Amino acid sequence: MAGPKKLYIKTYGCQMNVYDSERMAEVMGGAGYVATSRPEDADMILLNTCHIREKAAEKVYSELGRFRPLKEARPDLKVGVAGCVARAEGEEIMRRAGVVDLVVGPQSYHRLPEMEALVRAGKRALDTEFPARDKFEALAARPKARRGPTAFLTVQEGCDKFCAFCVVPYTRGAEVSRPGARVLAEARDLVERGVREITLLGQNVNAYHGAGEDGGDWSLARLIGALSEIDGLRRIRYTTSHPRDMQDDLIAAHGACDKLMPYLHLPVQSGSDRILKRMNRGHDAESYIRLVERIRAARPDILMSGDFIVGFPGETEADFQATLDLVGEVGYGYAYSFKYSPRPGTPAAERDQLGEEIKSERLQRLQALLTRQQRAAQDAMIGREVGVLVEKPGRFAGQMVGKSDHLHAVHVKDASLRPGDLARVEIVESGANSLAGRTIAPLS
Ligand code: SAH
Ligand code: SF4
Ligand code: F3S
Repeated sequence: MAGPKKLYIKTYGCQMNVYDSERMAEVMGGAGYVATSRPEDADMILLNTCHIREKAAEKVYSELGRFRPLKEARPDLKVGVAGCVARAEGEEIMRRAGVVDLVVGPQSYHRLPEMEALVRAGKRALDTEFPARDKFEALAARPKARRGPTAFLTVQEGCDKFCAFCVVPYTRGAEVSRPGARVLAEARDLVERGVREITLLGQNVNAYHGAGEDGGDWSLARLIGALSEIDGLRRIRYTTSHPRDMQDDLIAAHGACDKLMPYLHLPVQSGSDRILKRMNRGHDAESYIRLVERIRAARPDILMSGDFIVGFPGETEADFQATLDLVGEVGYGYAYSFKYSPRPGTPAAERDQLGEEIKSERLQRLQALLTRQQRAAQDAMIGREVGVLVEKPGRFAGQMVGKSDHLHAVHVKDASLRPGDLARVEIVESGANSLAGRTIAPLS
């Protein structure tokens, strides 16, 4: 008899897609599929896609092209496109890429098993709607498989901010928060399965306002407070935040909650007020800088991380200089910077565009500065004592790798450490992309 059917999933884009891919693997597990890391062995291939920049969306089509010979050799192979490209392009994907049997948007993946049955019967299946039913609750009972020490947990999805450059409000829909009790139940389940660190996810996670267990409306700070009472959960992180939703109670939580880690991703995009306005960000450079000061007052060692866009329509050299100035003033431990990419259907795509050269040149200058800052922040860890959550063995014998409180990768030479241990480590060296440390004491 043939073994179980095999599912190959490839994930693009943000952490929310990583979380969604795990959920898709679980629902398909209920339909008799096991995961494979080899597309050649798969009975079904799913690409969980990202639409944020042109390159991300185009990658999907080149990948689909690579599956054509596989499908020609094995007509039984089914190919599906999920995620934000699915939502943005829908049926167009099937027209452009004949290999595609199934298109499923980010809010419909709980329907994958019935869609799979349709395509097995030789039909095509498409669902890119935003159904009224909550997909999280529609998911089948989850297998209680053991998990690694870290996990993502989506608590909020969608965005109502409509930054002029961004597709997310269109691909993910309006802001929705999951009820606190459901998040707590999922977190407890993860901890029972071995998880020690949870990263709460949302496109605007700090806009979280879920129904509380007490009937009220919980803020993200309130949710973090409730999660921090789960025994066995050692660390909490959250991403991505919007400067406009950084409430006082959340800032205070960074000073008061030991389990909340000293790292914050708070994208600003530009340091120019003129550009911020044209981006429809709803804040200026000064208010962002003051906000970072207040966060640092609550948690002085917090490591700031940000996102930047260069070459937005209308950006002058002076505007770009203002971005460099803001970066100089804030000082980032991590950063992600991008050339502006015009996205169909967004307001900024209709405006006069800057040339590719100017974008590349500005990106280079910004990245040079950010790389210096990142390096300096990493080097500044030498001599400090940090917590390290051990994740897996390193490349060399007896070496373990994990993440520090500040999210730096840390190598520790200590054969007694196991994945899931939280060790107290002194940082002794700063390498290209990671730190090296020695254990002072295992925390537990
Ligand atoms: N919700 C998050 C961002 C999600 S998208 C937030 O509000 O911060 C992740 C990052 O991609 C953005 O912060 C932005 O820097 C970048 N980005 C989004 N649209 C883009 C576009 N059209 N071109 C270039 N970068 C873009
Ligand atoms: Fe996109 Fe802006 Fe919403 Fe972030 S806040 S997801 S950048 S529209
Ligand atoms: Fe990309 Fe969609 Fe995430 S567009 S960044 S996968 S929300």
